[in-house]
Amino acid sequence: MELNEKNILVVGGSSGIGLSLVKLLHQHNANVYVVSRSIANEWPGTVHYLKADVTGNLDGLEVFLPQSLHGLVYSVGSINLKPFIRLTDEDFLNDFRLNVLGAASVIRQAVGPLKKASGASIVLISSVAASTGMPYHASIAAAKGAVEGLALSLAAEFAVQHIRVNVAAPALTDTPLAQNLLSTPEKREASAKRHPLGKIGRPEDISRMIAFLLSEESSWMTGQIVGIDGGLGNLKTS
Ligand SMILES: NC(=O)c1ccc[n+]([C@@H]2O[C@H](COP(=O)([O-])OP(=O)(O)OC[C@H]3O[C@@H](n4cnc5c(N)ncnc54)[C@H](OP(=O)(O)O)[C@@H]3O)[C@@H](O)[C@H]2O)c1
Repeated sequence: MELNEKNILVVGGSSGIGLSLVKLLHQHNANVYVVSRSIANEWPGTVHYLKADVTGNLDGLEVFLPQSLHGLVYSVGSINLKPFIRLTDEDFLNDFRLNVLGAASVIRQAVGPLKKASGASIVLISSVAASTGMPYHASIAAAKGAVEGLALSLAAEFAVQHIRVNVAAPALTDTPLAQNLLSTPEKREASAKRHPLGKIGRPEDISRMIAFLLSEESSWMTGQIVGIDGGLGNLKTS
């Protein structure tokens, strides 16, 4: 994958899928820029780091970014599963703020540097739940549906500037975010069985696809929602 010397911003690069991506980008000699609230001890080599909360003030971001930015990945999100009747307006707003407004704010500040790189790539992360109805997912599914809408609209708007925008849509992936759903062997087994391929995702399963979407190899792809979900989104096996 050709990512050598490319400047890539990973928002949410301190944990889970984002951390796995930072490691992969490092192996491919990319210059990695991370925004998160805390640092990760597992970062390899040099990582340019900005401590920031995407729901707060992102003023420092413009200064932090390099002049030209070849890739932007927004790997921040939530899994807020509750019966609909217990979901409050605040739950919906929090999920929207974190998943949608956070991504929009970061992209707004990065548009200048993205334009300066020829053929930049933005990757947002949705969820299989945006397009597959699942109980207790009303708030996160609504927010991720909005992430997909944002990505498609930006893909159309930025195409003239040769900035591509694609979405990775995982099913349950073994990261700290999903810990509550995977906290016992029984829960892990039941979750694995829900996926046609009989297993839950690993962070690398998702980060490899994101790296592909960032690279030249996907240079004719934009406005796509790519499911990486063990078959959960499209298949019915029983
Ligand atoms: N894991 C799954 O099963 C699954 C399934 C479908 C979709 N997804 C999506 O995949 C993406 C990555 O999730 P993950 O599982 O890798 O989660 P994760 O392990 O919790 O990582 C989330 C990252 O976002 C950062 N972050 C969280 N809130 C932030 C904030 N307010 N400001 C700045 N940074 C913030 C975290 O760093 P700090 O805590 O240091 O800020 C961390 O680096 C999310 O969009 C999620 O919705 C995950």
